[in-house]
Amino acid sequence: MRTQVCIVGGGPSGLLLGQILHRAGIDTRILERRPRAHVLSRIRAGVLEGGTVDMLRRAGVGDRLAREGFVHTGTRVASRDRAFRIDFAESAGKPVTVYGQTEVTQDLYDARDASDAAPVIHGVEGVTIHGADTDVPHVTYDAGGTAHRIDCDWVVGCDGFHGVSRRTIPEAVRTEVERVYPFGWLGVLSETPPVDHELIYANSPRGFALASMRNENLSRYYVQAPVTDRAEDWPDDRFWDELRRRLPADAAETLVTGPSIEKSLAPLRSFICEPMRWGRLCLVGDAAHIVPPTGAKGLNLAVSDVHYLSEGLIAACGGEAEGMDRYSDRALARVWKAVRYSWWFTTLMHRYPDDTAFHQKMQEAEIAYLDGSPAARTVFAENYVGLPF
Ligand code: FAD
Ligand code: DHB
Repeated sequence: MRTQVCIVGGGPSGLLLGQILHRAGIDTRILERRPRAHVLSRIRAGVLEGGTVDMLRRAGVGDRLAREGFVHTGTRVASRDRAFRIDFAESAGKPVTVYGQTEVTQDLYDARDASDAAPVIHGVEGVTIHGADTDVPHVTYDAGGTAHRIDCDWVVGCDGFHGVSRRTIPEAVRTEVERVYPFGWLGVLSETPPVDHELIYANSPRGFALASMRNENLSRYYVQAPVTDRAEDWPDDRFWDELRRRLPADAAETLVTGPSIEKSLAPLRSFICEPMRWGRLCLVGDAAHIVPPTGAKGLNLAVSDVHYLSEGLIAACGGEAEGMDRYSDRALARVWKAVRYSWWFTTLMHRYPDDTAFHQKMQEAEIAYLDGSPAARTVFAENYVGLPF
């Protein structure tokens, strides 16, 4: 089989890249290890930057998002002795949109189904990328007990943190920088009305908590938990109890609880692989970088990578190589700023095992500064709503 661009991974970044390239008349194949139902059941991101919303709209998958997404013009930040709102419209001139990653992924699958692009190939095993440092790469894999080969001009690794693409780049070529945080986020999804119409990020003496949502009757909550815990260690009652103790008093009083319909613990890390291109292989999204979820940057970074790469690939397919030569540097320049912001916000809001009184006082002082300084709120807001592509 032959295609122009072989995309490894059918998560949000692989599907969005496939959609944009298809609309530009470029042939793609998408290889996904898991069944579609599994990809669609992974509860992850919830907050989309304005640039992400624009990209999805331009890719022809913005209609349901425009109808069903919640536009948020601010967020609440709370600590032991204060709770305040940061107004994105006032501080950064742009809102964010709350719309689940599962919905984005569903819209992208629907768009691929409705087009004449080749369907996503699910259930692939043993994906191997060959000749990425030549002009004639190819990809081999097994599906349904049969070996397959795809010849292509470019291979794009959209296969997440545990995928094969990054590891195809020789160790001598790639540099990896990592910080692992000494805690995780326990997330719960429940069919209950959200505690507030906006998100609440809470720094409490018992650890971080986040109140988020998916729609009027679907809430998403997180509490900081030891990374060694398992979801089973947290029966619903324990979770709600802990969340109530960490949220500001007014929210704790009105919190509506109910059975969880999903519960999972995610470790937190910052991880960056450089470069994001090696020969005819490019990395996109979580395959190249991971950020801690505080501030909701992961999916949005995957989308900005797709922006730079799709521009480069469309130009390259027309014979113009410069965009591909600049891909890694352009993407990484934006990635590092989001790495910084998500690290800063994580450090500001969480309890660390080796916390000292000094560290906690610094958190309190910084939160007070954010509350009192329009300049500090502008810095927060312009990063939260998303730096320009
Ligand atoms: P993935 O979603 O990981 O997709 C990779 C795909 O590749 C998967 O479908 C996988 O099955 C497939 N794959 C893997 N290996 C292979 C292989 N060998 N062969 C073929 N296929 C393979 N981001 C935000 O922007 N906002 C948020 O609010 C936010 N909240 C989050 C909350 C949590 C709890 C977590 C865990 C993450 C959150 N993120 C958030 C991050 C966001 O979910 C990720 O950044 C996003 O999923 C990255 O998309 P991706 O397509 O690059 O990778
Ligand atoms: C969500 C996740 C985040 O990491 C965040 O900062 C905000 C919201 C969510 O899943 O809704």
